Amino acid sequence: MAVASSDRGAWNSKLGFILAAAGSAVGLGNIWGFPTKVATEGGAAYLLIYLLCTFLIGFPVMVAELSIGRKSGKNPVGAFKALTTNKFFPLVGLWGVICGVMILSFYTVIAGWAFGYAFEEIFYFLGWQAGADWLTDTGNGFKNALIAAVFMMATIRIISGGVSEGIERATKTMMPLLIGIIVIMTIYVLFQPGAMDGVREYLLPDFSRINPTLIFSAMGQAFFSLSLGMGALITYGSYLNKKENIPQAAAFVTVADVGIAFLAGLLIIPALYVAQAAGIEIFVGDQLASSTNLVFQILPALFHTIGGAVGLILGVVFFLLLSIAALTSTISLLEVPVAYVIDEHNVPRKKAAWGVGLGILVITLVVSFQTSLIGTFDYIFNNLGLPIGGVLICVFIAFVWKTDSALDEMESGFEGVKKSLFGKVWPIFIKFICPAAILYNIISNFI
Ligand code: PHE
Repeated sequence: MAVASSDRGAWNSKLGFILAAAGSAVGLGNIWGFPTKVATEGGAAYLLIYLLCTFLIGFPVMVAELSIGRKSGKNPVGAFKALTTNKFFPLVGLWGVICGVMILSFYTVIAGWAFGYAFEEIFYFLGWQAGADWLTDTGNGFKNALIAAVFMMATIRIISGGVSEGIERATKTMMPLLIGIIVIMTIYVLFQPGAMDGVREYLLPDFSRINPTLIFSAMGQAFFSLSLGMGALITYGSYLNKKENIPQAAAFVTVADVGIAFLAGLLIIPALYVAQAAGIEIFVGDQLASSTNLVFQILPALFHTIGGAVGLILGVVFFLLLSIAALTSTISLLEVPVAYVIDEHNVPRKKAAWGVGLGILVITLVVSFQTSLIGTFDYIFNNLGLPIGGVLICVFIAFVWKTDSALDEMESGFEGVKKSLFGKVWPIFIKFICPAAILYNIISNFI
């Protein structure tokens, strides 16, 4: 079922693709998800396992997804159909589409919180406490729904316009600025009383905290943060030019993603201890007082203690950047089901974007009023759903499409890949190490 190629689109340049993929990877997962999980699930021990999962499991799977995408030129369902006659694997693609839909439904609510906080900073500065309190109330269903809906509309508009323009441009300016502001704030925090307790918690691992639950969670977080396991990078790979070097692009995206998550942790974990030292109730006993909205309590508190015009500017710019980072991720989440509808059901892009987007918005509205669903959805579709997708992608390449065919695809853009060290090691990871590690982690978590 061919669709006018203009409806599929393509990246404008090499940098364009890398920016878009990095834009997909860098988002709430780095700045909200990762620090929250470090704080609640094991400090430096969590960081260590997360890094191992990212480089040893995530990176090889990212190369796999991009190869499948570029070879087939299709959405996740169409990609498996194009590469095998086996009837099972298109269902793996469909599972990815479902995970994308469900993750987007709650992601938008959290993105709405981030966006709301940019205005909270302004209201706080102007002394309009009632307005500021309204925006900080993450339990206010009506407010959540309103801002999430605005966010979803923005995502739909960009997606209905096609893949390259907006995403490439937004990411190019956002990423360096975001890094800059996190670095400035980290330096500020590290000089406050209590910060060193946080640095120790973040960087000195207590190995006794490593257990199957922690490993399972860190693995899910690695998949989520790298946008893996649901075909987002199959889809983005399908717009990728044959001249590009896939392993190199994947390496860049992985390092950018981990780098920003690491920095965010270095800011937020010490900030928790600084806030604690300043008398804000962060821990009750050794448990955190709250988790889903932890980062959204700590960061504004930080901007408020900096205070004045500097606090205001840092706060507003930070939350706007975080919103843009979230937007470049929601774009990739929505692009997966939209590409599926365009390719497989022959629907024009505009119609597909609005139909699918508004459909997901209905779930988002439910989550807005029932925020406890965030944890549930996160567990099922992220912690569990993405690694399952990842393992099936490995199985597909190892036993159906074959690692050799994937390497053939990589040859274009990376001549001699088969003879390179990468070409020798990557198949071992895809055939043995990644699937075994993922399955082992999932199973041991449940036993
Ligand atoms: N990687 C994004 C983040 O860290 C979330 C995401 C997950 C995007 C899966 C696309 C696919 O915020």
